[in-house]
Amino acid sequence: MIKVLFVCLGNICRSPMAQIIFENLVKENCLESKFEIDSAGTEGYNESCGAGIHRGTKEVLRRNGISFNEHYSRQMCAYDYHYYDLIIAMDSENIIDIKRIIGDDTDNKIKRLLDFTMNPRNIEDPWYSGNFDKTYEDICEGCEALLNEIKTSFKL
Ligand code: 4NP
Repeated sequence: MIKVLFVCLGNICRSPMAQIIFENLVKENCLESKFEIDSAGTEGYNESCGAGIHRGTKEVLRRNGISFNEHYSRQMCAYDYHYYDLIIAMDSENIIDIKRIIGDDTDNKIKRLLDFTMNPRNIEDPWYSGNFDKTYEDICEGCEALLNEIKTSFKL
């Protein structure tokens, strides 16, 4: 079982979008039994009190024909670092914040999603940009590259 945790700041826009897109991709590849996938925030929204997915994320997923269950935001904790095999951040600031929670990345588990692509970069936060379509495209590109990398390194 490969355990993947997607992490952003609030866990209502980008990381739930990445979780859902990656879950769909894994399903399309008939690899569901190989993965456990979740998402969390470094802050959580409203003091990590379980806010649902942002309307903009839901709308872009629906427009692209991707079905999903509700997800309630939670803050990442130190135990997540031990439990998950891969901690996938949306931007470099997330990585700094994750390390504030977990300490050093001693097992080299923390990666930035778009670092798996040919064009490494941050995923902009649509909470500020309002551009959920761009977030969707970037996350799709990153998730495809991530799955390809996992397939190769875990020989799936
Ligand atoms: P996310 O976006 O990190 O992609 O979930 C944000 C959501 C909420 C806030 C900031 C970013 N906030 O400040 O409440």
